[in-house]
Amino acid sequence: MKLKCPHCSKIYNIPDEKIPSNPNLKIKCLKCEGIISIKKDVYSETPEEVKIDIKIEEIIQKAKALPPISEVLAKARDILTDENRDIRDLAEVLEKDQAMTSRILKIANSAYYALKNPVSSVQQACIILGAEILLQMITLASTSKLLGKELKGYSISSGEVFLHSTGVAFASRLIALKTQPELSADAFSAGILHDAGKLLLDESLVEIKEYFVAKVSSGIKMHIAEKEIFGFDHTETGYEFLKKWNIPQKQLTAVRWHHEPSKSDSDVLAYIIHAANEIMEMEIDLNIADNQNLAPETLKILNLTFDDLESIREEAKIATEEVFHGFIS
Ligand SMILES: [Fe+2]
Ligand SMILES: [Fe+2]
Repeated sequence: MKLKCPHCSKIYNIPDEKIPSNPNLKIKCLKCEGIISIKKDVYSETPEEVKIDIKIEEIIQKAKALPPISEVLAKARDILTDENRDIRDLAEVLEKDQAMTSRILKIANSAYYALKNPVSSVQQACIILGAEILLQMITLASTSKLLGKELKGYSISSGEVFLHSTGVAFASRLIALKTQPELSADAFSAGILHDAGKLLLDESLVEIKEYFVAKVSSGIKMHIAEKEIFGFDHTETGYEFLKKWNIPQKQLTAVRWHHEPSKSDSDVLAYIIHAANEIMEMEIDLNIADNQNLAPETLKILNLTFDDLESIREEAKIATEEVFHGFIS
């Protein structure tokens, strides 16, 4: 019988006579030291590996069908980060996109920003909340359509990627504010975009949906399952795709390494997005210290404690819920 480690995919051939009788035994993988739960149903022959023969360039090419990230975001970023530009320039850009303006105002008036009186113009929102917060709102409003899609191949319902990404964006910003405040705006933006690559891989996964879902439910990390199938994962795909949107290089690097930050040459933003992603994927009642996927050097690099991450997770959850409430109402 074959047994596969869900963490590093090492395969163990276990002779029938050595199969333990206890069906819920746990053993430590000799290669990665991850815990392998041995349940009776794990004792099956590894199904034939399925591969999809497609190049990353072809996937990027196909992505043209996706709703584009709005030009407004790039323009807003230029205006809001340039001290010599006037906020009135931004109002001019936004005037041309009424749907975007109304989405921004919905977010601005959500419970999270706790305004005493509702704002009725983007200019007013900027004066009251400041340029960085306004850019946050524009980022959310510009990506909601793209990230709100249903991902059939991943079995992710519509809105779920956007909800997760918003949580990661808020958590990333909160981590940055504690670790390296000058990275807070980049952290929010990279947090929103970190899983964008999944939108591109989804179409190809639809045809092998059952196989992919079974592979991931057996404990294999999603990005490793993608790599086994395509030869690359959603971080690489997202990196190549976002390059076309002129996303700043430091955000691209963080997107690329959010699952493997140790390969980023100790890039702080990559560790921020990594930590934010890991804590926002966990249920709130589980201890972050028990998260096996959090790269062990993360706390040291970010100069944080588990308690810091626990309170950031709580705050980010509240922020996400409050913004969403305003967004969909
Ligand atoms: Fe990811
Ligand atoms: Fe994620």
